[in-house]
Amino acid sequence: MDMLEELRKLPKAELHLHIEGTLEPELLFSLAKRNNILLPYKNIDEVKDKYLFQDLQSFLDIYYNGTNVLITKQDFYDLTYAYLIKANQDGIRHVEIFFDPQSHVSRGVEFKDVIEGIYDALEEGKKEFGISYFIIMCFLRHLSQENALEVLQMALPYKDKIKAVGLDSSELGHPPSKFTELFNKCRENNFLTVAHAGEEGPASYIWEALNLLQIERIDHGVRCTEDPELLKTIIQKNIPLTVCPLSNVKLKVYQDMKEHNIKKLFDLGVKVTINSDDPAYFGGYLLENYIQCQNELGFTYNDLCDISKNSIEASFLSNSEKIKLINEINNLKQKINI
Ligand code: HPA
Ligand code: ZN
Repeated sequence: MDMLEELRKLPKAELHLHIEGTLEPELLFSLAKRNNILLPYKNIDEVKDKYLFQDLQSFLDIYYNGTNVLITKQDFYDLTYAYLIKANQDGIRHVEIFFDPQSHVSRGVEFKDVIEGIYDALEEGKKEFGISYFIIMCFLRHLSQENALEVLQMALPYKDKIKAVGLDSSELGHPPSKFTELFNKCRENNFLTVAHAGEEGPASYIWEALNLLQIERIDHGVRCTEDPELLKTIIQKNIPLTVCPLSNVKLKVYQDMKEHNIKKLFDLGVKVTINSDDPAYFGGYLLENYIQCQNELGFTYNDLCDISKNSIEASFLSNSEKIKLINEINNLKQKINI
């Protein structure tokens, strides 16, 4: 069988995707030109040479720098629409995308332009490709809780466009407990909650995200294996992990794809999903992450069917929408196994 084609056909949900992390060097250059912004790179090849990272922080420095070219509503629209074209090519049927409002409003960009540009593109993608979506607003954990609370106020008029809130940026030294009050306020406003935890940070940060922020899913979470009690809780409570394999290798959470623990987590019964995180920076979109898991970690087609089912189950879609997509996966799986 043509594995690439079969994996492409599987209905998949992408649940861990920073829209600012889909800014390809080509679009970076064209937006810089459109907005008269001087880039610290001469050409596209020079940009790609810079995309070699030692850790999360060395990536974030370059990633935030890239966001400087995003200014108008049209910029956010173009960025999001370009991602949806790729998502469609990869067989993605549902996306829950993160955006980082603080990295834009701090530069004088209007919150309205950010959310409306992203929203309009997602609506267009829904019409054109049939890709359903939710938007997740992430807070930058290296900034203060007060700053996050101010941005939450800006977001409230657009509450109906935002399904959930998350927590991202530099993890070490910024534990989830720093944002307990913020997340309480978010839940009072009916936002669902997720948080990055256990990417570079220790297992204790995952406990805090679960117990203090009361999150629905853990973003990354791969360091949960360092605490047997935590691992047991995650399995028993069926808490999903949005794992990003290529990202973890590029940011040196693992030195090599063969060292990644996602297959171990899967075999232990953890509800793991595969995601691309910041695909313009990490060398591949969602399907490439699936393929590398198959090639390097020994996931079979049936395993990857189960992972795509996990992605649907772990999404914020309604039960009836989940059932439709899961039935499609079951039918494809059955055909292959006859
Ligand atoms: N971790 C934390 N913050 C981020 C990431 C990530 O992988 N990508 C974009 N912001
Ligand atoms: Zn992330």
